[in-house]
Amino acid sequence: MKISEVRITGQREIANRIYELKLHGEVVDEMTNPGQFVHLRTDGSFETLLRRPISIADVDRNKQEVTIIYRVEGAGTSNLAAKRPGDVVDLLGPLGNGFSLAPAEQHRKVLLVGGGIGVPPLYYLSRQLKSRGVEVKHVLGFSSKAEVFYEEKFSELGETYVTTVDGSHGLKGFVTDAITKYGFDYDLLYACGPTPMLKALEQASEGKEAYLSLEQRMGCAVGACLACVVHVQGDETGADYRKVCKDGPVFPAGEVVL
Ligand SMILES: Cc1cc2nc3c(=O)[nH]c(=O)nc-3n(C[C@H](O)[C@H](O)[C@H](O)COP(=O)(O)OP(=O)(O)OC[C@H]3O[C@@H](n4cnc5c(N)ncnc54)[C@H](O)[C@@H]3O)c2cc1C
Ligand code: FES
Repeated sequence: MKISEVRITGQREIANRIYELKLHGEVVDEMTNPGQFVHLRTDGSFETLLRRPISIADVDRNKQEVTIIYRVEGAGTSNLAAKRPGDVVDLLGPLGNGFSLAPAEQHRKVLLVGGGIGVPPLYYLSRQLKSRGVEVKHVLGFSSKAEVFYEEKFSELGETYVTTVDGSHGLKGFVTDAITKYGFDYDLLYACGPTPMLKALEQASEGKEAYLSLEQRMGCAVGACLACVVHVQGDETGADYRKVCKDGPVFPAGEVVL
């Protein structure tokens, strides 16, 4: 993990308020683990002094290029969207503990579930699993058709099911509705998305092996400020916690309170 300057090689809007950004730099050589993230300085102003965490969506080792996908939410991501190819971005990373691939080598039925801006890290994960001969299915949840991205790219890697809350594309409802409707038979789950989605998946996957990537507001992203702590399940003292930035963002289901 280090601070480095990376150069933008591509920037395009791929869905409503969703941008795909490609960054080039030697630091990409260190980005080996899907589920890790980078912490970006989006400009030098006081309002956006804190870096913004964004997941690694894909890595092209030959080109030393990392792809990130972000949704424009506030000042930081708006700054990012204004940048153009050739501009330089200050990047801290790669950070965190991502998805372990080892469990997938012992399981036959692997399900990847992503919600909204939780979808991007699953793409690099799915590519890594595919390259190891693991067959995966994907369930991707969005609010509406206008926000859907990467459906075709996921389909190239395995069966892909899309849900939208308003029913404008794919199955109407949440990712858990797709799991119930299609009766997916899986013994290993990897998921990333909003906490209510992860909570529902944790309950729906009881008794199965599952790994969940949490989204949490962050300050330092290196384990120093405690902005991102989550409590450990079953700890009666309430004093035992994990840092999402350093111990996570990926945790085995059942480890932390969602
Ligand atoms: C490990 C990790 C990986 C992430 N990966 C991605 C990704 O791949 N793509 C992506 O679009 N976003 C991702 N996020 C969320 C992203 O960091 C926030 O959307 C971003 O920081 C918002 O910054 P802003 O300045 O644009 O908005 P702000 O003005 O700071 O906030 C605008 C809105 O975003 C919410 N928000 C701010 N920070 C976070 C956060 N850390 N998590 C969730 N919501 C937040 C706020 O509650 C507010 O509603 C990730 C977050 C974490 C912790
Ligand atoms: S963000 Fe500072 S400890 Fe996690």
